[in-house]
Amino acid sequence: STFDPLLTPADDSAAVTLTQDDLKRIAAYKAVEYVESGMVVGLGTGSTAKHAVSRISELLREGKLRDIIGIPTSTTTHVQAISLGIPLSDLDSHPVVDLSIDGADEVDPALNLVKGRGGSLLREKMVEGASKKFVVIVDESKLVKHIGGSGLAVPVEVVPFCCNFTRGKLEELFRGAGCKAKLRVKVGSGGGETAAVTDNGNYVVDLYLERDIGDLDAASEAILRLPGVVEHGMFLGMATTLIVAGKFGVTVKDR
Ligand code: 5RP
Repeated sequence: STFDPLLTPADDSAAVTLTQDDLKRIAAYKAVEYVESGMVVGLGTGSTAKHAVSRISELLREGKLRDIIGIPTSTTTHVQAISLGIPLSDLDSHPVVDLSIDGADEVDPALNLVKGRGGSLLREKMVEGASKKFVVIVDESKLVKHIGGSGLAVPVEVVPFCCNFTRGKLEELFRGAGCKAKLRVKVGSGGGETAAVTDNGNYVVDLYLERDIGDLDAASEAILRLPGVVEHGMFLGMATTLIVAGKFGVTVKDR
């Protein structure tokens, strides 16, 4: 399919001048077409998902959507949605989510994902795992042949207790794939480094793999078996629809 003229700049030269953020917005707006009045909607996290959240609020304000309940996947999205007046709830009150919309760091041809480079993987996996439909929105730069093989990180949320022990165990687990496991840090205003803390008070270990991780289900199970691990950022078999915006149009793929 082609760009929706409502969503793209009127200018004919748009196809060559679209920025990566334009592509994220186009994918996000397309996904919001799946949202219907009365739905419980999982609100993703990141620079792509934030466009979906603002589009939902716009349609609510215009009266084109009604009675939406949003389930945010991070404190950042919670703050954004509150500031835009979207009514919110959580999985305790709404254990079944009709539809979630979220970005991803990597997507393979079977719609397996890597998520969590923004650090929100646990809440994202809980909300998106509780969703009847999970629409993933990306610009074309996120498409890969094999997840975890692009030289970028596969994030793992770990408890702070002896996190270096857990980091070492994770590195050992994927030694065959040339794994380097690094504790994610943030740099303070004085230049000092401290562990990056998730919304859940945990830390993140990023797995950098030189080679393909192999059987994804086996890798997932092995990571989750390690005491100290809370969750990992491989979302296997969860996405139901993928929307990709590229310089030459939008494609929609259902699993
Ligand atoms: C946050 C995520 C994000 O969805 C992922 O990092 C993609 O982010 P962006 O849309 O900013 O590229 O998983 O934990």
